[in-house]
Amino acid sequence: MSALNTVKYGPMWTSALGSHTLVNLASAPLVEQVMRQEGKYPVRDHMEQWRDHRDHKGLKYGIFVTQGEQWYHLRQALNQRLLKPAEAALYTDAFNEVIGDFITRLDQVRAESASGDQVPDVAHLLYNLALEAICYVLFEKRVGCLEPTIPEDTATFIRSVGLMFQNSVYVTFLPKWTRPFLPFWKRYVTGWDNIFSFGKKLIDQKVKEVEAQLQAAGPDGIQVSGYLHFLLSSELLSPQEAIGTFPELLLAGVDTTSNTLTWALYHLSKNPEIQEALHKEVVGVVPFGTVPKHKDFVHMPLLKAVIKETLRLYPVVPSNSRIITEKDIEIGGFLFPKNTQFVLCHYVASRDPSTFSEPESFQPDRWLRNKGTENSKVQHPFGSVPFGYGVRSCLGRRIAELEMQLLLSRLIQQYAVTLAPDMTEVKSLARIVLVPNRKVNLRFLRRQS
Ligand code: HEM
Repeated sequence: MSALNTVKYGPMWTSALGSHTLVNLASAPLVEQVMRQEGKYPVRDHMEQWRDHRDHKGLKYGIFVTQGEQWYHLRQALNQRLLKPAEAALYTDAFNEVIGDFITRLDQVRAESASGDQVPDVAHLLYNLALEAICYVLFEKRVGCLEPTIPEDTATFIRSVGLMFQNSVYVTFLPKWTRPFLPFWKRYVTGWDNIFSFGKKLIDQKVKEVEAQLQAAGPDGIQVSGYLHFLLSSELLSPQEAIGTFPELLLAGVDTTSNTLTWALYHLSKNPEIQEALHKEVVGVVPFGTVPKHKDFVHMPLLKAVIKETLRLYPVVPSNSRIITEKDIEIGGFLFPKNTQFVLCHYVASRDPSTFSEPESFQPDRWLRNKGTENSKVQHPFGSVPFGYGVRSCLGRRIAELEMQLLLSRLIQQYAVTLAPDMTEVKSLARIVLVPNRKVNLRFLRRQS
């Protein structure tokens, strides 16, 4: 839709969302103008429907819902042990353990297929990987997503995420007075309630563990390992704050990495020469039988470029937003009153031919600094910003990158991946995040060691 509007109106146009007017911006320079003028406490969106649920249930606001100084304090706490690459690296072993189980599960699925190497609906399997991985990293708990039969409470959580997202569309567009009369609000709240009770159970278990350690060995005897454990035991977060915010982290950390990995594998399957070059790069650093570690990725520029190029073509959050609350703001030569909501159309901006040559084609080497080629040109810094920008940018960026690097390198080290015979062109659909419009079926052929 944004792409069509750009053709019709150029890189800036207005649209309506209920009673709100939105200003859409679809070029790197315009996105840059908004982002560079955001204040100390950037507002993405008022998150009214999420806030209504939290108020209805007396829950503390999580990181997506909270604003202003309250957001700042919560974000400062959450930044610890997550924001910097060296901190994310602490979770390498946890990710690798889950990825090992993922490969076992992948092999089971391959073995069940008629050809012995086909995996139907790769996005689904990667969703299970991402949920298992984020739960393990955040809570230090395995939740059984990679077992042949998924435990009931984990399955309920997965269904509830779907229920909440499907109904949130109706809840957003229908007036509030319809809530008692139509089924959507009730379903939306039930979805959220199940999401929160899944998170609460994991948090309650962790609180008990921390208390037991305190009683047994005193403050110095606490063995801090996972993220939640660290935040609770250092009192950066109270259990109530954790209950308000951790379910949101779970939501943010699953569809994002799983869909990006799906697109990356799809394009590597369509581009065997790029996949072969990547295989060579990977086994040159981590030979067959060796498990990659975070320090290895310094020597894998192509792997990083594949992920960057995937996120350029499929920014999993296809449009972001900012409301500039502090002052009137000038964008593209026009003055807008304060509280204007700007929609940043990243999907369109990152396929703009004036920023990227042959923007529709998958060319990871545009991110490699090869001297003397077109790739050595400096890219516009806001041409592709899949993790957002500034102090309110993605909290999970570094763990997301690490997870994707660890998984992709391990798969490409061990398998040659191709499209399944029934596969035709896959297009993207914007469903809050960008998803494939059909199931992605791939073949994973084991390489010889
Ligand atoms: C491919 C992976 C991912 C992508 C592309 C992505 C992208 C984004 C984007 C575009 C934003 C909005 C940033 C802004 O407004 O400037 C965001 C926010 C956020 N992301 Fe991610 N994300 C990914 C993975 C994750 C993961 C694994 C987590 C897990 C913790 C996570 C947690 C968050 C949180 C908590 C915020 C809100 C931050 C705030 O409001 O202060 N993300 N992400």
